[in-house]
Amino acid sequence: MNKSNYIEINERAYDCLVQYYIDIFNDPVSQKIKSEIFEGILRAYAKINNRHFIPCDEPLSILDLGSGVGIAIQSFLSLLPNSKIVPLELSENMRLACNERFEHIPVMRSNILDVEQKEYANQFDVVYASAFIHLFSPEDAVKVLDKINSWLKSNGVLYISTTLHNNPSDFKATIKKEVKTANIERYRMRYSKEVFIKLLTDNGFVVLESSEREEKTTDKTKLWLNVICKKEVADYERKTESDKETLRQ
Ligand SMILES: C[S@@+](CC[C@H](N)C(=O)[O-])C[C@H]1O[C@@H](n2cnc3c(N)ncnc32)[C@H](O)[C@@H]1O
Repeated sequence: MNKSNYIEINERAYDCLVQYYIDIFNDPVSQKIKSEIFEGILRAYAKINNRHFIPCDEPLSILDLGSGVGIAIQSFLSLLPNSKIVPLELSENMRLACNERFEHIPVMRSNILDVEQKEYANQFDVVYASAFIHLFSPEDAVKVLDKINSWLKSNGVLYISTTLHNNPSDFKATIKKEVKTANIERYRMRYSKEVFIKLLTDNGFVVLESSEREEKTTDKTKLWLNVICKKEVADYERKTESDKETLRQ
C-alpha cells in the first residue's frame, strides 16, 4: 500500500461519513464530552504557562486537525469566542458541511502530509488532534507529529486521542462497523496504550496527563485514550548535530 493510495481511500471514506458526524454534532451528550475535553486542555495550557485560568476573551490560536464537520469548533467558540481557529481537513464533503455551520471560519482543505512544515512554524497555542493520528501509517504518523511539534508554540499544548485495543494491529483497512448501510473501508492503526504513549514520547512530546473514556455505540463499547502533551524541548535542541551545524553556517 503506497502512501497516496491509503490517503485516497480514507478521503473517499470520510466523504461518505458526513451524516454520521453530523449526528454526533447534533448529539448533546457528545457536545458535553467535547466541552469537558476542551476545558481540560485550557486547564493544562494555563498550568504550563503558570496561570490560574484562561479568560474567555483570550485570543488563543487553535489548529483543529481532521476537523470533520466542526464538532470541536462549537466547544472552542463557546469557551473562547475570540480564539483564532484553523480547521484542516482532507475530505471536501466534510469541509462543505463544516462551512455550512461556521461560515466565518474557512477550512483549509488539504492532506496534512502535503502542508509544508514552515507554513505554520510556532503559530499555535493549542493543536487539537481528536481521532486523527491513527489514520496514518507508522512512518507517516511520525511525520505528522513532527509537523505538530514545529507548529506548536514552545508553551503550547497538544491534545491527541485514539481508541485503545487489546489486540493492537498493524496499519490496515478496516470496515467502520457503526455505519450499517454501507461497507465503508478506511485505513487505520489499532494502538495499545503503551505503543501510543511511546509514539508521542519518542517524537518530542512530554505527556502531561492521560485519561480513558468509554463510548457505547450501537453494537460495542469503544475505549478512548485522551492525552494532553507539551513539547519536550525547543526545536533547535531536537535537531541532530549535523542539522545544527548547517543552521550555524
Ligand atoms: C475520525 S474523523 C474525526 C473528526 C473529528 N476530529 C472528531 O473528533 O470528531 C477524522 C477526520 O480526519 C480527516 N483526515 C483523515 N486523514 C487526513 C489527512 N491526511 N489530512 C487531513 N485530514 C484528514 C478525515 O477526513 C476526518 O474528517
